[in-house]
Amino acid sequence: MSANVGILCIFVVLFMAIEAMGVVTRAAPMDQISENKNLFNKTRPRSQSRSRPIDYTFELPIATTSWPQGNGFAGGILDLGGLQVSQVSTFRKVWGAYDGGPDNQGASVYEPTSVPKGFSMLGSYSQPNNKPLFGYVLVAKDVSSSTSNGTLKPPIDYTLLWNTSSLSANQNSTLYIWLPVAPDGYKALGHIVTTTPEKPSLDKIMSVRSDLTEQCETTSWIWGSNDFNFYDVRPSNRGTQSPGVRVGTFVAQNGGNTNPSSISCLKNLNSISKVMPNQKQIEAILQVYSPFLYLHSDEEYFPSSVNWFFSNGALLYKKGDELNPIQIQQNGTNLPQDHNYDDSYWINLPVDDANKEKVKRGNLESAESYVHVKPMFGGTFSDIVMWIYYPFNGPARAKVELINIKLGKIGEHVGDWEHVTLRVSNLDGKLWQMYFSQHSSGSWVDSSQIEFQNDTTKRPIVYASLHGHAAYPHEGLVLLGENGIGVRDDTNKGSNVMDMGKFVLVSADYLGSVKEPAWLNFYREWGPKIDYNLDEQLKNLKKVLIIGKLKEAFERMIKTLPNEMLGEEGPTGPKAKKVWNGDEV
Ligand SMILES: *[C@@H]1O[C@H](CO)[C@@H](O)[C@H](O)[C@H]1NC(C)=O
Ligand SMILES: *[C@@H]1O[C@H](CO)[C@@H](O)[C@H](O)[C@H]1NC(C)=O
Ligand SMILES: *[C@@H]1O[C@H](CO)[C@@H](O)[C@H](O)[C@H]1NC(C)=O
Ligand SMILES: *[C@@H]1O[C@H](CO)[C@@H](O)[C@H](O)[C@H]1NC(C)=O
Ligand SMILES: *[C@@H]1O[C@H](CO)[C@@H](O)[C@H](O)[C@H]1NC(C)=O
Ligand SMILES: *[C@@H]1O[C@H](CO)[C@@H](O)[C@H](O)[C@H]1NC(C)=O
Repeated sequence: MSANVGILCIFVVLFMAIEAMGVVTRAAPMDQISENKNLFNKTRPRSQSRSRPIDYTFELPIATTSWPQGNGFAGGILDLGGLQVSQVSTFRKVWGAYDGGPDNQGASVYEPTSVPKGFSMLGSYSQPNNKPLFGYVLVAKDVSSSTSNGTLKPPIDYTLLWNTSSLSANQNSTLYIWLPVAPDGYKALGHIVTTTPEKPSLDKIMSVRSDLTEQCETTSWIWGSNDFNFYDVRPSNRGTQSPGVRVGTFVAQNGGNTNPSSISCLKNLNSISKVMPNQKQIEAILQVYSPFLYLHSDEEYFPSSVNWFFSNGALLYKKGDELNPIQIQQNGTNLPQDHNYDDSYWINLPVDDANKEKVKRGNLESAESYVHVKPMFGGTFSDIVMWIYYPFNGPARAKVELINIKLGKIGEHVGDWEHVTLRVSNLDGKLWQMYFSQHSSGSWVDSSQIEFQNDTTKRPIVYASLHGHAAYPHEGLVLLGENGIGVRDDTNKGSNVMDMGKFVLVSADYLGSVKEPAWLNFYREWGPKIDYNLDEQLKNLKKVLIIGKLKEAFERMIKTLPNEMLGEEGPTGPKAKKVWNGDEV
């Protein structure tokens, strides 16, 4: 629904009407950073009886209860060093508010139930009401031999942090939030909540010896007002070697301190890979959770296997010897293997036009996902990163109010590495979240918010955006920009689908036995740097826009696009990206 730049002016008016009918605009990922914190809508209180997503408890469509034999993956318990933890995801609701929070749907607070014998609660659970109930908290058991200096101790008192009696919020009772006062050398990992002003009994919750705790940071906002807020927390330090463990509790605090001192995370003092899945278990996990990747119905640039790309004429260029590129061998065995990241070598498409066009278009039949498994949250989760290779990233399109504009060469590049990540609990084997990579950033999405294939596999669905191949959990239009001006990410359920269950395990350091393909250790760029002038491109494009105000806004938007989209950098391979050893960003 757009025309070439040169003749666009003429068609704009015609297209405006047609385009307006089909466009559904959703918030861009860049916009989601600032959440609406307007707490209470006093003019129209919501009814308590109206049903909300939270009234439903989410269950994965396929529950796997038996996994291949192994060392303890999905065995329910992990010893962090004299402290066993187990994951509980059955809850008793203590309190609910019916407005405020994300989407103004309110929030709820729960206590874990069915806590295994010998284990204790470390804190309550809370989440916004705009999603089905789906979460966990860790519960803990002291298995140290120390009697005086054990890993768990009850608090010596509680401090009442806040109560909701004077709030105009529509709530079913008053909420009292307590912070456990831990004995010297111990820390609180979560809150306890009541609906009466009496202090809870001291044996309801445990605090943890300080050496088993770490600094937390706040993540998503759960509920609150300008002065008092609930946030999800996770360890501040995260990565494949970081011992910080997410407890699943929340922090309630004045203001928006991002590094709360009141609530700590756990720390794994033992081996981080203790309950990571072995090779057979990885295969079983992927059999259950591998996504189906839906390509857009207008897609022209498909994924392929890396070997298909190499054996169809991909070339290796050496700086200073640009006229003599060499043919890359199957499996990339002749690619430089030193871990330098510089511009002395790069990969490019075949030179002759026929082959170049063919390779650009990719080859869906050969496409496979390349799997990297790494520990996360101190080894309580496995991040299963599934990389997809597209030989070519097509040009971007922008939307300026009601007009679509093809961005010429902007956004085009050779060698497009995209990924989605499955975050699977090593304690219960469940898929907890999925990460969708979108133009050098992306977003985590709870399992309760993803789509599942409507067939016997019930596997997750991922949508790849037209040309840019950003991954999304739902189809539609996402605009990267603001005020109706931005680059379009269009996704839909086209008939071309990649079964990501066709995979190759390319790396899992902790197993020590996975043979990495040679191409994985090619650290340099999978495509040449841009061969066009951005300012020239912009000048041409701006001719199309008649109104000065729009021109400026358009130029501003283009200049804020990530480098990867502007094509100023060639794309790097998986190992050269931060996410290889770190958490997703
Ligand atoms: C409150 O509700 C009214 C009626 O639906 C709406 O017009 C108004 O924008 C809402 N205000 C806030 C702050 O959400
Ligand atoms: C208690 O245990 C911690 C961590 O092992 C240690 O640093 C501390 O010295 C111990 N205190 C006593 C009194 O044993
Ligand atoms: C509850 O909060 C109100 C102010 O919001 C305060 O006046 C009251 O004393 C608090 N209740 C208790 C039991 O602390
Ligand atoms: C509030 O809701 C919870 C969960 O439904 C319930 O257990 C609790 O008794 C309710 N409180 C009041 C005062 O109704
Ligand atoms: C090269 O790739 C083929 C096909 O993927 C594979 O069977 C073979 O083991 C690989 N060889 C090496 C040396 O990695
Ligand atoms: C799922 O598939 C079944 C059988 O083909 C069909 O009846 C049902 O409507 C589908 N559900 C959805 C949500 O598409």
